Amino acid sequence: MIPRALTWSSDARRLRILDQRLLPERVVERELCTIDEVDEALRTLAVRGAPAIGVAAALGVIAAFARAGVPDRAALLAALDRLAGARPTAVNLPWAMARLRRVVIVAEANLLDALAAEAERILAEDIAMCDAIGRHGQGLLPDGARVLTHCNAGALATAGIGTALAPVYTASAAGRRVEVIACETRPLLQGSRITAWELSAAGIPVTVCTDSMAAALMREGRLDLVLVGADRIAANGDIANKIGTYGHAVAAHHHGLPFYVAAPSSTIDASLFGGASIPIERRDADEVRRVGGQVVAPPDVPVENPAFDITPASLISAIVTDRGVFRPPYRFVEAP
Ligand code: MRU
Repeated sequence: MIPRALTWSSDARRLRILDQRLLPERVVERELCTIDEVDEALRTLAVRGAPAIGVAAALGVIAAFARAGVPDRAALLAALDRLAGARPTAVNLPWAMARLRRVVIVAEANLLDALAAEAERILAEDIAMCDAIGRHGQGLLPDGARVLTHCNAGALATAGIGTALAPVYTASAAGRRVEVIACETRPLLQGSRITAWELSAAGIPVTVCTDSMAAALMREGRLDLVLVGADRIAANGDIANKIGTYGHAVAAHHHGLPFYVAAPSSTIDASLFGGASIPIERRDADEVRRVGGQVVAPPDVPVENPAFDITPASLISAIVTDRGVFRPPYRFVEAP
């Protein structure tokens, strides 16, 4: 069974998330009841992955104000701005908050009902976009494909069946054999903790490797292609994704392997011409200094911790969205 990142109860307007900080050791669901709790869940990566954070923030606003009562419009807009800034790289978060912002500005009566309808549309659209990515992307995976992925771009990063993993699930459901090699994804280990757990739960063969092993596996002929998600896609096809993605793209190019990106249309930021303008989140140094609470670097040595990197369009073989498979030169406003 494919696990779910979040559960929304439409009648009661309650939001539960799977707390991804605890995987794979513990499977714990948490209810998010206030704007503070939603903000904390986003910042600490209890819920993470570009599409999932947009959907969770939208539903979280409804859950919080269904309990506390709707504040005046200025306070509502301030809450939306606060959540939009919780994580800077994935465009899905400000995109979802901008959709609610428009409702706050134009709705005349029953503001909470109008906001809930928009948040539920964002939820339904995300589920549908994941299914469409699966349908369009499955053709890129031949029978027996050995697929390298990085970070988690599966069901747990979305409201549906995932982005990069959607073609894997769809090809597998169609009877094709697909094997995933999940890069560990230092420093927070989304690959080994989350992707490996999710794929195992779904019955898809998965092997974990450290990030530094990927190039050697390519050289040994043990991989057929790379398939990753994205947190933001610029108009020219440059993409931001979890730190380490760029290195896999360079290695794939060197070894002549296809490098595919899968993401919903909500991840495309047509306002940015290229990847250089994408804001990169820099996170706490302790995420690098410690592994599982154990200190692994001297406390007085500076460390780098950019959470994402940019992969240029020139290294990307194709970008799969819910609208089809785009190949260079990328023109996302037109049909692929
Ligand atoms: O910091 P995270 O765990 O939110 O980063 C997630 C990723 O980088 C994913 O690969 C990306 O959001 C695509 S998810 C469908």
